[in-house]
Amino acid sequence: MIGIGAIGGPLTEISTGLLAVGLHKDESPPEELNEAVSIILSNGDFSGKDGETALVYAPQGLATPRLLLVGLGDRSSFTLDKLRRAAATAAKQAQTLKLDDAAFALPVSERSAARIAAAEAAAEGAVLGAYRFNRHKTAAPSSELGTFNLVSDDEDVAAAAQTGASTAAASVLARDLANEPSNEATPEYLAGKAREIAERYGMQADVLDLVGIQDEGLNGLATVGRSAANEPRFIVLEHRRGGEEAPVVLVGKAVTFDSGGISIKPSGGMDEMKYDMSGGAAVLGAMEAVGALDLALNVVALVPATENLPAGNAFKPGDVLKLHSGKTVEIVTTDAEGRLILADALSYAKRYEPAAVIDCATLTGACVVALGHHASGLMGNDEALIAEIEKAGEAAGERAWHLPLFEEYTEQTKGETADLKNSGGRPGGALTAGAFLKEFVDYPWVHLDIAGTAYGKSKNAYTPKGASGTPARLLVEFLRGRAGDRAVEVTR
Ligand code: BES
Ligand code: MN
Ligand code: ZN
Repeated sequence: MIGIGAIGGPLTEISTGLLAVGLHKDESPPEELNEAVSIILSNGDFSGKDGETALVYAPQGLATPRLLLVGLGDRSSFTLDKLRRAAATAAKQAQTLKLDDAAFALPVSERSAARIAAAEAAAEGAVLGAYRFNRHKTAAPSSELGTFNLVSDDEDVAAAAQTGASTAAASVLARDLANEPSNEATPEYLAGKAREIAERYGMQADVLDLVGIQDEGLNGLATVGRSAANEPRFIVLEHRRGGEEAPVVLVGKAVTFDSGGISIKPSGGMDEMKYDMSGGAAVLGAMEAVGALDLALNVVALVPATENLPAGNAFKPGDVLKLHSGKTVEIVTTDAEGRLILADALSYAKRYEPAAVIDCATLTGACVVALGHHASGLMGNDEALIAEIEKAGEAAGERAWHLPLFEEYTEQTKGETADLKNSGGRPGGALTAGAFLKEFVDYPWVHLDIAGTAYGKSKNAYTPKGASGTPARLLVEFLRGRAGDRAVEVTR
Protein backbone atom coordinates (compact mmCIF):
# COMPACT_ATOMS: atom_id res chain seq x y z
CA MET A 1 0.00 0.00 0.00
CA ILE A 2 1.28 3.46 -0.85
CA GLY A 3 2.18 5.85 1.95
CA ILE A 4 -0.06 8.83 2.66
CA GLY A 5 1.18 12.11 4.09
CA ALA A 6 0.75 15.86 4.11
CA ILE A 7 3.12 18.52 2.85
CA GLY A 8 3.03 22.26 3.47
CA GLY A 9 2.33 24.79 0.71
CA PRO A 10 2.60 27.13 -1.16
CA LEU A 11 1.89 25.26 -4.40
CA THR A 12 4.71 27.03 -6.23
CA GLU A 13 7.35 25.60 -3.93
CA ILE A 14 6.23 22.01 -3.61
CA SER A 15 8.93 19.73 -4.80
CA THR A 16 7.38 16.44 -5.82
CA GLY A 17 7.37 14.14 -8.85
CA LEU A 18 3.87 15.21 -9.78
CA LEU A 19 1.65 17.92 -8.38
CA ALA A 20 -2.05 17.27 -9.02
CA VAL A 21 -4.61 20.03 -8.78
CA GLY A 22 -8.33 19.49 -9.03
CA LEU A 23 -10.27 22.10 -10.96
CA HIS A 24 -14.01 22.56 -11.21
CA LYS A 25 -15.60 23.00 -14.61
CA ASP A 26 -15.05 26.44 -16.15
CA GLU A 27 -13.43 27.85 -13.00
CA SER A 28 -10.08 29.58 -12.94
CA PRO A 29 -7.19 27.86 -11.17
CA PRO A 30 -5.49 29.14 -8.01
CA GLU A 31 -3.64 32.32 -8.94
CA GLU A 32 -0.14 30.89 -8.47
CA LEU A 33 -0.83 28.41 -11.30
CA ASN A 34 -1.81 31.07 -13.81
CA GLU A 35 1.50 31.10 -15.68
CA ALA A 36 1.63 27.34 -15.85
CA VAL A 37 -1.86 26.68 -17.15
CA SER A 38 -2.86 29.77 -19.09
CA ILE A 39 -2.03 28.27 -22.50
CA ILE A 40 -3.90 25.06 -21.87
CA LEU A 41 -6.94 26.85 -20.56
CA SER A 42 -7.00 29.53 -23.24
CA ASN A 43 -6.71 26.85 -25.94
CA GLY A 44 -9.73 25.18 -24.43
CA ASP A 45 -7.75 21.92 -24.02
CA PHE A 46 -8.98 21.52 -20.47
CA SER A 47 -12.28 22.69 -19.06
CA GLY A 48 -12.46 20.80 -15.76
CA LYS A 49 -15.03 18.24 -16.87
CA ASP A 50 -15.44 15.31 -14.53
CA GLY A 51 -12.53 12.90 -15.00
CA GLU A 52 -10.70 15.06 -17.55
CA THR A 53 -6.93 15.37 -17.14
CA ALA A 54 -4.08 17.44 -18.59
CA LEU A 55 -0.41 16.87 -17.85
CA VAL A 56 1.88 19.88 -18.02
CA TYR A 57 5.65 19.35 -18.10
CA ALA A 58 8.02 21.94 -16.63
CA PRO A 59 5.13 24.16 -15.60
CA GLN A 60 6.20 27.78 -15.45
CA GLY A 61 6.58 29.29 -12.03
CA LEU A 62 6.37 25.97 -10.17
CA ALA A 63 9.07 23.88 -8.50
CA THR A 64 7.49 20.60 -9.57
CA PRO A 65 8.51 19.12 -12.95
CA ARG A 66 4.95 17.87 -13.65
CA LEU A 67 1.60 19.45 -13.01
CA LEU A 68 -1.53 17.35 -13.47
CA LEU A 69 -4.86 19.10 -13.82
CA VAL A 70 -7.76 16.87 -12.85
CA GLY A 71 -11.33 17.82 -13.70
CA LEU A 72 -13.78 17.80 -10.79
CA GLY A 73 -16.87 18.64 -12.86
CA ASP A 74 -19.44 21.26 -11.93
CA ARG A 75 -19.06 22.68 -8.44
CA SER A 76 -22.81 22.40 -7.94
CA SER A 77 -22.76 18.61 -8.40
CA PHE A 78 -19.53 17.97 -6.50
CA THR A 79 -19.38 14.94 -4.20
CA LEU A 80 -16.73 13.35 -2.04
CA ASP A 81 -16.78 10.42 -4.40
CA LYS A 82 -15.64 12.67 -7.26
CA LEU A 83 -12.73 13.73 -5.08
CA ARG A 84 -11.89 10.08 -4.38
CA ARG A 85 -11.79 9.51 -8.13
CA ALA A 86 -9.69 12.62 -8.79
CA ALA A 87 -7.09 11.57 -6.22
CA ALA A 88 -7.16 8.05 -7.63
CA THR A 89 -6.52 9.41 -11.11
CA ALA A 90 -3.56 11.41 -9.80
CA ALA A 91 -2.07 8.44 -7.93
CA LYS A 92 -2.46 6.21 -10.99
CA GLN A 93 -0.85 8.76 -13.27
CA ALA A 94 2.11 9.07 -10.89
CA GLN A 95 2.39 5.32 -10.79
CA THR A 96 2.27 5.01 -14.58
CA LEU A 97 5.11 7.53 -14.74
CA LYS A 98 7.03 5.39 -12.21
CA LEU A 99 7.41 8.31 -9.81
CA ASP A 100 8.38 7.97 -6.17
CA ASP A 101 6.02 10.59 -4.87
CA ALA A 102 3.14 12.85 -5.79
CA ALA A 103 1.17 15.64 -4.15
CA PHE A 104 -2.45 16.61 -4.40
CA ALA A 105 -3.96 20.03 -3.70
CA LEU A 106 -7.32 19.78 -1.99
CA PRO A 107 -9.98 21.86 -3.69
CA VAL A 108 -11.26 23.05 -0.31
CA SER A 109 -8.92 25.68 1.05
CA GLU A 110 -10.57 27.18 4.10
CA ARG A 111 -10.28 25.44 7.47
CA SER A 112 -13.54 23.59 7.77
CA ALA A 113 -15.20 20.29 8.49
CA ALA A 114 -15.58 19.85 4.75
CA ARG A 115 -11.81 19.99 4.44
CA ILE A 116 -11.37 17.10 6.85
CA ALA A 117 -13.88 14.97 4.95
CA ALA A 118 -12.17 15.95 1.71
CA ALA A 119 -8.76 14.96 3.05
CA GLU A 120 -10.07 11.55 4.11
CA ALA A 121 -11.70 10.98 0.73
CA ALA A 122 -8.62 12.07 -1.24
CA ALA A 123 -6.37 9.79 0.82
CA GLU A 124 -8.76 6.89 0.28
CA GLY A 125 -8.93 7.56 -3.43
CA ALA A 126 -5.16 7.64 -3.79
CA VAL A 127 -4.62 4.36 -1.93
CA LEU A 128 -7.44 2.61 -3.75
CA GLY A 129 -6.51 4.02 -7.16
CA ALA A 130 -2.92 2.83 -6.79
CA TYR A 131 -4.05 -0.65 -5.72
CA ARG A 132 -2.80 -3.58 -7.79
CA PHE A 133 -2.94 -7.29 -7.19
CA ASN A 134 0.22 -8.67 -8.71
CA ARG A 135 1.74 -10.95 -6.16
CA HIS A 136 1.42 -13.90 -8.54
CA LYS A 137 3.21 -12.19 -11.42
CA THR A 138 6.75 -13.51 -11.53
CA ALA A 139 8.16 -10.64 -13.62
CA ALA A 140 9.37 -7.85 -11.35
CA PRO A 141 6.21 -6.01 -10.31
CA SER A 142 6.07 -2.51 -11.74
CA SER A 143 7.16 0.02 -9.17
CA GLU A 144 4.65 1.32 -6.70
CA LEU A 145 4.23 4.95 -5.83
CA GLY A 146 5.98 5.59 -2.51
CA THR A 147 4.20 8.57 -0.99
CA PHE A 148 1.10 10.54 -1.87
CA ASN A 149 0.96 13.85 0.00
CA LEU A 150 -1.99 16.13 0.47
CA VAL A 151 -0.95 19.77 0.24
CA SER A 152 -1.71 21.38 3.58
CA ASP A 153 -0.05 23.02 6.58
CA ASP A 154 -2.95 22.00 8.74
CA GLU A 155 -2.35 19.24 11.30
CA ASP A 156 -6.00 18.25 11.15
CA VAL A 157 -5.64 17.56 7.45
CA ALA A 158 -2.54 15.47 8.08
CA ALA A 159 -4.48 13.45 10.65
CA ALA A 160 -7.46 13.10 8.33
CA ALA A 161 -5.12 11.83 5.62
CA GLN A 162 -3.98 9.06 7.98
CA THR A 163 -7.58 8.23 8.82
CA GLY A 164 -8.36 7.98 5.12
CA ALA A 165 -5.37 5.69 4.69
CA SER A 166 -6.76 3.45 7.46
CA THR A 167 -10.25 3.26 5.98
CA ALA A 168 -8.72 2.53 2.59
CA ALA A 169 -6.68 -0.24 4.20
CA ALA A 170 -9.97 -1.99 4.96
CA SER A 171 -10.69 -2.18 1.23
CA VAL A 172 -7.11 -3.11 0.42
CA LEU A 173 -7.19 -6.10 2.76
CA ALA A 174 -10.65 -7.11 1.50
CA ARG A 175 -9.41 -6.90 -2.09
CA ASP A 176 -6.23 -8.84 -1.37
CA LEU A 177 -8.16 -11.64 0.33
CA ALA A 178 -10.86 -11.84 -2.34
CA ASN A 179 -8.44 -11.68 -5.27
CA GLU A 180 -6.35 -14.48 -3.79
CA PRO A 181 -7.27 -17.69 -5.63
CA SER A 182 -8.94 -20.47 -3.70
CA ASN A 183 -5.92 -22.77 -3.80
CA GLU A 184 -4.23 -20.21 -1.54
CA ALA A 185 -7.17 -18.53 0.16
CA THR A 186 -8.56 -21.56 1.99
CA PRO A 187 -10.72 -21.33 5.12
CA GLU A 188 -7.60 -21.86 7.24
CA TYR A 189 -5.81 -19.08 5.31
CA LEU A 190 -8.62 -16.68 6.28
CA ALA A 191 -8.39 -17.88 9.86
CA GLY A 192 -4.67 -17.07 9.78
CA LYS A 193 -5.45 -13.55 8.56
CA ALA A 194 -7.94 -13.09 11.39
CA ARG A 195 -5.28 -14.19 13.88
CA GLU A 196 -2.86 -11.66 12.38
CA ILE A 197 -5.40 -8.85 12.80
CA ALA A 198 -6.02 -9.95 16.38
CA GLU A 199 -2.28 -9.93 17.04
CA ARG A 200 -1.81 -6.48 15.51
CA TYR A 201 -4.56 -4.77 17.45
CA GLY A 202 -5.00 -6.76 20.64
CA MET A 203 -8.25 -8.40 19.57
CA GLN A 204 -9.41 -11.88 20.44
CA ALA A 205 -9.48 -14.50 17.65
CA ASP A 206 -11.14 -17.89 18.07
CA VAL A 207 -11.27 -20.38 15.26
CA LEU A 208 -13.37 -23.54 15.19
CA ASP A 209 -12.25 -26.45 12.98
CA LEU A 210 -14.64 -29.06 11.53
CA VAL A 211 -14.96 -30.93 14.82
CA GLY A 212 -15.49 -27.69 16.72
CA ILE A 213 -18.08 -26.60 14.17
CA GLN A 214 -19.95 -29.89 14.54
CA ASP A 215 -19.74 -29.75 18.34
CA GLU A 216 -21.18 -26.24 18.29
CA GLY A 217 -24.09 -27.46 16.16
CA LEU A 218 -23.19 -25.21 13.23
CA ASN A 219 -24.63 -27.89 10.97
CA GLY A 220 -25.15 -25.75 7.90
CA LEU A 221 -21.44 -24.93 7.83
CA ALA A 222 -20.43 -28.47 8.76
CA THR A 223 -22.67 -29.92 6.04
CA VAL A 224 -21.45 -27.64 3.25
CA GLY A 225 -17.85 -28.02 4.37
CA ARG A 226 -17.54 -31.71 5.12
CA SER A 227 -16.91 -32.83 1.52
CA ALA A 228 -13.95 -30.53 0.86
CA ALA A 229 -10.32 -31.47 1.40
CA ASN A 230 -9.71 -27.99 2.81
CA GLU A 231 -11.68 -28.13 6.05
CA PRO A 232 -14.17 -25.41 6.99
CA ARG A 233 -13.46 -22.89 9.73
CA PHE A 234 -15.74 -20.73 11.85
CA ILE A 235 -13.81 -17.55 12.58
CA VAL A 236 -14.68 -15.30 15.52
CA LEU A 237 -12.77 -12.04 15.90
CA GLU A 238 -13.63 -9.70 18.77
CA HIS A 239 -12.65 -6.06 19.28
CA ARG A 240 -13.63 -5.05 22.83
CA ARG A 241 -13.24 -1.31 23.32
CA GLY A 242 -16.81 -0.38 24.23
CA GLY A 243 -17.07 -1.42 27.87
CA GLU A 244 -20.33 -3.14 28.71
CA GLU A 245 -22.15 -1.92 25.59
CA ALA A 246 -23.91 -4.40 23.35
CA PRO A 247 -21.65 -5.20 20.39
CA VAL A 248 -22.18 -4.73 16.70
CA VAL A 249 -21.77 -8.10 14.99
CA LEU A 250 -20.49 -8.33 11.41
CA VAL A 251 -21.13 -11.57 9.54
CA GLY A 252 -19.41 -12.36 6.24
CA LYS A 253 -20.02 -15.26 3.89
CA ALA A 254 -16.69 -16.85 3.03
CA VAL A 255 -17.21 -19.64 0.54
CA THR A 256 -13.63 -19.77 -0.67
CA PHE A 257 -14.79 -21.62 -3.78
CA ASP A 258 -18.38 -22.26 -4.82
CA SER A 259 -18.61 -24.98 -7.44
CA GLY A 260 -22.29 -25.38 -6.59
CA GLY A 261 -21.57 -28.79 -5.05
CA ILE A 262 -23.65 -31.73 -6.37
CA SER A 263 -25.91 -29.12 -8.02
CA ILE A 264 -22.80 -28.15 -9.92
CA LYS A 265 -22.55 -24.83 -11.74
CA PRO A 266 -21.86 -24.53 -15.48
CA SER A 267 -18.09 -24.45 -16.05
CA GLY A 268 -18.02 -21.13 -17.94
CA GLY A 269 -17.12 -18.38 -15.53
CA MET A 270 -16.84 -20.76 -12.60
CA ASP A 271 -13.42 -19.30 -11.85
CA GLU A 272 -15.24 -16.21 -10.57
CA MET A 273 -16.51 -18.28 -7.68
CA LYS A 274 -13.17 -17.76 -5.94
CA TYR A 275 -14.77 -14.40 -5.07
CA ASP A 276 -17.56 -16.11 -3.14
CA MET A 277 -15.72 -15.25 0.07
CA SER A 278 -15.92 -11.51 -0.58
CA GLY A 279 -18.35 -10.96 2.32
CA GLY A 280 -15.92 -12.54 4.76
CA ALA A 281 -13.05 -10.62 3.17
CA ALA A 282 -14.91 -7.31 3.63
CA VAL A 283 -15.65 -8.13 7.27
CA LEU A 284 -11.99 -8.92 7.97
CA GLY A 285 -11.00 -5.77 6.07
CA ALA A 286 -13.36 -3.71 8.21
CA MET A 287 -11.84 -5.24 11.36
CA GLU A 288 -8.40 -4.15 10.18
CA ALA A 289 -9.65 -0.54 10.09
CA VAL A 290 -11.53 -0.94 13.38
CA GLY A 291 -8.20 -1.90 14.93
CA ALA A 292 -6.16 0.81 13.18
CA LEU A 293 -8.67 3.51 14.17
CA ASP A 294 -9.07 1.92 17.59
CA LEU A 295 -12.81 2.58 17.56
CA ALA A 296 -14.38 2.87 21.01
CA LEU A 297 -16.88 0.13 20.35
CA ASN A 298 -17.45 -3.57 20.80
CA VAL A 299 -17.36 -5.28 17.43
CA VAL A 300 -17.56 -9.01 16.77
CA ALA A 301 -16.78 -10.49 13.37
CA LEU A 302 -18.19 -13.91 12.49
CA VAL A 303 -16.87 -15.51 9.32
CA PRO A 304 -18.15 -18.95 8.34
CA ALA A 305 -15.54 -20.16 5.84
CA THR A 306 -15.81 -23.20 3.62
CA GLU A 307 -15.50 -24.60 0.11
CA ASN A 308 -18.57 -25.92 -1.68
CA LEU A 309 -17.44 -29.00 -3.61
CA PRO A 310 -19.01 -32.26 -4.77
CA ALA A 311 -17.69 -35.57 -3.38
CA GLY A 312 -18.99 -38.96 -2.25
CA ASN A 313 -19.77 -37.61 1.19
CA ALA A 314 -21.24 -34.33 -0.05
CA PHE A 315 -24.75 -33.18 0.90
CA LYS A 316 -27.37 -33.74 -1.77
CA PRO A 317 -30.59 -32.24 -3.06
CA GLY A 318 -33.45 -33.60 -0.98
CA ASP A 319 -31.36 -33.88 2.19
CA VAL A 320 -32.80 -32.37 5.34
CA LEU A 321 -30.61 -30.79 8.00
CA LYS A 322 -31.12 -29.16 11.34
CA LEU A 323 -29.34 -25.82 11.49
CA HIS A 324 -27.73 -24.21 14.56
CA SER A 325 -31.00 -22.49 15.50
CA GLY A 326 -32.85 -25.83 15.59
CA LYS A 327 -34.85 -25.08 12.44
CA THR A 328 -34.84 -27.74 9.74
CA VAL A 329 -34.07 -27.10 6.08
CA GLU A 330 -34.73 -29.16 3.02
CA ILE A 331 -32.01 -28.87 0.41
CA VAL A 332 -33.49 -27.98 -2.97
CA THR A 333 -30.10 -27.21 -4.43
CA THR A 334 -26.64 -27.53 -2.95
CA ASP A 335 -25.79 -24.32 -4.80
CA ALA A 336 -27.83 -22.28 -2.30
CA GLU A 337 -25.10 -22.94 0.28
CA GLY A 338 -24.50 -19.38 1.40
CA ARG A 339 -27.76 -19.00 3.30
CA LEU A 340 -27.05 -22.25 5.18
CA ILE A 341 -23.74 -21.08 6.59
CA LEU A 342 -25.07 -17.56 7.21
CA ALA A 343 -28.13 -18.90 9.04
CA ASP A 344 -25.78 -20.68 11.43
CA ALA A 345 -23.68 -17.56 11.99
CA LEU A 346 -26.79 -15.39 12.49
CA SER A 347 -28.24 -17.67 15.15
CA TYR A 348 -24.79 -18.01 16.76
CA ALA A 349 -24.77 -14.18 16.96
CA LYS A 350 -27.72 -14.22 19.40
CA ARG A 351 -25.37 -15.07 22.25
CA TYR A 352 -23.90 -11.57 22.04
CA GLU A 353 -27.28 -9.87 22.50
CA PRO A 354 -26.11 -7.58 19.70
CA ALA A 355 -27.08 -3.94 19.21
CA ALA A 356 -27.06 -4.61 15.48
CA VAL A 357 -25.96 -7.33 13.09
CA ILE A 358 -24.87 -6.67 9.51
CA ASP A 359 -24.26 -9.62 7.23
CA CYS A 360 -22.71 -9.34 3.81
CA ALA A 361 -22.62 -12.05 1.20
CA THR A 362 -22.26 -12.75 -2.50
CA LEU A 363 -25.56 -14.50 -2.07
CA THR A 364 -27.63 -14.53 -5.24
CA GLY A 365 -27.29 -14.16 -8.99
CA ALA A 366 -30.79 -12.69 -8.79
CA CYS A 367 -29.43 -9.62 -6.99
CA VAL A 368 -27.09 -9.02 -9.92
CA VAL A 369 -30.09 -9.19 -12.25
CA ALA A 370 -32.02 -6.74 -10.05
CA LEU A 371 -29.38 -4.06 -9.42
CA GLY A 372 -26.56 -4.81 -11.81
CA HIS A 373 -23.12 -3.88 -10.56
CA HIS A 374 -23.96 -0.44 -9.21
CA ALA A 375 -25.51 -1.10 -5.82
CA SER A 376 -25.56 -3.86 -3.24
CA GLY A 377 -28.96 -5.24 -2.29
CA LEU A 378 -29.96 -4.15 1.21
CA MET A 379 -32.63 -5.92 3.25
CA GLY A 380 -33.42 -5.77 6.93
CA ASN A 381 -35.88 -5.71 9.79
CA ASP A 382 -35.20 -2.32 11.37
CA GLU A 383 -35.94 0.96 9.60
CA ALA A 384 -33.45 3.03 11.60
CA LEU A 385 -30.62 0.58 11.00
CA ILE A 386 -31.51 0.32 7.31
CA ALA A 387 -31.32 4.12 7.01
CA GLU A 388 -28.00 4.15 8.86
CA ILE A 389 -26.52 1.61 6.46
CA GLU A 390 -27.88 3.39 3.38
CA LYS A 391 -26.24 6.58 4.58
CA ALA A 392 -22.93 4.88 5.34
CA GLY A 393 -22.94 3.34 1.86
CA GLU A 394 -23.58 6.68 0.22
CA ALA A 395 -20.78 8.36 2.19
CA ALA A 396 -18.32 5.56 1.46
CA GLY A 397 -19.13 5.44 -2.25
CA GLU A 398 -20.42 1.88 -1.73
CA ARG A 399 -24.11 2.24 -2.50
CA ALA A 400 -26.70 -0.11 -1.08
CA TRP A 401 -30.33 -0.13 -2.24
CA HIS A 402 -33.19 -1.10 0.03
CA LEU A 403 -35.25 -4.07 -1.21
CA PRO A 404 -38.41 -5.45 0.43
CA LEU A 405 -38.81 -8.50 2.65
CA PHE A 406 -42.58 -8.94 2.34
CA GLU A 407 -44.25 -11.78 4.19
CA GLU A 408 -44.95 -13.42 0.81
CA TYR A 409 -41.22 -13.97 0.27
CA THR A 410 -41.06 -15.78 3.58
CA GLU A 411 -43.97 -17.97 2.44
CA GLN A 412 -41.96 -18.81 -0.67
CA THR A 413 -39.18 -20.33 1.44
CA LYS A 414 -41.41 -22.56 3.61
CA GLY A 415 -40.43 -26.23 3.19
CA GLU A 416 -42.49 -29.25 2.15
CA THR A 417 -40.88 -31.83 4.43
CA ALA A 418 -38.94 -29.42 6.67
CA ASP A 419 -39.47 -25.98 8.21
CA LEU A 420 -37.74 -24.22 5.34
CA LYS A 421 -36.29 -24.98 1.95
CA ASN A 422 -33.05 -23.43 0.76
CA SER A 423 -34.43 -22.11 -2.52
CA GLY A 424 -37.63 -20.22 -3.20
CA GLY A 425 -37.21 -20.55 -6.96
CA ARG A 426 -36.31 -17.89 -9.50
CA PRO A 427 -38.87 -15.15 -8.83
CA GLY A 428 -37.48 -12.62 -6.36
CA GLY A 429 -34.41 -14.77 -5.73
CA ALA A 430 -32.51 -12.08 -3.79
CA LEU A 431 -35.53 -11.42 -1.60
CA THR A 432 -36.38 -15.02 -0.80
CA ALA A 433 -32.74 -15.47 0.21
CA GLY A 434 -33.09 -12.44 2.50
CA ALA A 435 -36.40 -13.77 3.82
CA PHE A 436 -34.70 -17.10 4.59
CA LEU A 437 -32.03 -15.34 6.66
CA LYS A 438 -34.67 -13.29 8.47
CA GLU A 439 -35.93 -16.53 10.03
CA PHE A 440 -32.72 -16.72 12.05
CA VAL A 441 -32.54 -13.24 13.57
CA ASP A 442 -34.20 -11.66 16.61
CA TYR A 443 -32.20 -8.40 16.76
CA PRO A 444 -31.84 -5.31 14.53
CA TRP A 445 -30.39 -6.73 11.36
CA VAL A 446 -29.35 -5.77 7.85
CA HIS A 447 -28.37 -8.11 5.04
CA LEU A 448 -26.21 -6.88 2.15
CA ASP A 449 -26.23 -8.96 -1.03
CA ILE A 450 -22.96 -8.02 -2.71
CA ALA A 451 -23.05 -10.54 -5.58
CA GLY A 452 -23.05 -7.69 -8.11
CA THR A 453 -20.68 -5.27 -6.37
CA ALA A 454 -17.95 -7.40 -4.82
CA TYR A 455 -15.96 -7.97 -8.00
CA GLY A 456 -15.97 -7.44 -11.74
CA LYS A 457 -14.85 -4.90 -14.29
CA SER A 458 -13.31 -1.58 -13.33
CA LYS A 459 -16.10 0.87 -12.54
CA ASN A 460 -14.20 4.06 -11.84
CA ALA A 461 -10.70 5.35 -11.15
CA TYR A 462 -10.53 3.84 -7.67
CA THR A 463 -12.23 0.50 -8.33
CA PRO A 464 -10.00 -1.83 -10.31
CA LYS A 465 -11.08 -4.98 -12.05
CA GLY A 466 -11.21 -7.99 -9.77
CA ALA A 467 -12.26 -7.60 -6.16
CA SER A 468 -13.65 -4.16 -5.20
CA GLY A 469 -13.42 -4.64 -1.42
CA THR A 470 -17.09 -3.62 -1.12
CA PRO A 471 -18.61 -3.20 1.47
CA ALA A 472 -15.58 -2.92 3.77
CA ARG A 473 -15.58 0.89 3.83
CA LEU A 474 -19.36 1.01 4.20
CA LEU A 475 -18.96 -1.10 7.33
CA VAL A 476 -16.17 1.12 8.66
CA GLU A 477 -18.22 4.25 7.98
CA PHE A 478 -21.17 2.73 9.82
CA LEU A 479 -19.00 1.68 12.77
CA ARG A 480 -17.32 5.09 12.99
CA GLY A 481 -20.78 6.61 13.16
CA ARG A 482 -21.70 4.23 15.98
CA ALA A 483 -18.47 5.00 17.79
CA GLY A 484 -19.03 8.74 17.47
CA ASP A 485 -15.63 9.00 15.84
CA ARG A 486 -16.83 10.81 12.76
CA ALA A 487 -14.93 14.06 12.44
CA VAL A 488 -17.83 15.62 10.58
CA GLU A 489 -21.27 14.76 9.31
CA VAL A 490 -20.41 14.03 5.73
CA THR A 491 -22.58 16.18 3.53
CA ARG A 492 -22.76 15.83 -0.19
N1 BES B 1 -22.38 -17.64 -4.78
C1 BES B 1 -23.61 -17.79 -5.46
C2 BES B 1 -24.26 -16.47 -5.86
C3 BES B 1 -23.55 -15.65 -6.91
C4 BES B 1 -23.93 -15.74 -8.22
C5 BES B 1 -22.56 -14.77 -6.56
C6 BES B 1 -23.32 -14.97 -9.17
C7 BES B 1 -21.92 -14.00 -7.53
C8 BES B 1 -22.32 -14.09 -8.83
C9 BES B 1 -24.61 -18.52 -4.56
O1 BES B 1 -24.08 -19.46 -3.71
C10 BES B 1 -25.55 -19.23 -5.47
O2 BES B 1 -25.11 -20.11 -6.16
N2 BES B 1 -26.81 -18.83 -5.45
C11 BES B 1 -27.80 -19.41 -6.28
C12 BES B 1 -29.04 -19.61 -5.44
C13 BES B 1 -30.13 -20.34 -6.15
C14 BES B 1 -29.67 -21.71 -6.54
C15 BES B 1 -31.32 -20.40 -5.24
C16 BES B 1 -28.07 -18.48 -7.44
O3 BES B 1 -28.07 -17.26 -7.26
O4 BES B 1 -28.23 -18.97 -8.55
MN1 MN C 1 -23.82 -21.35 -4.61
ZN1 ZN D 1 -22.15 -19.13 -3.10
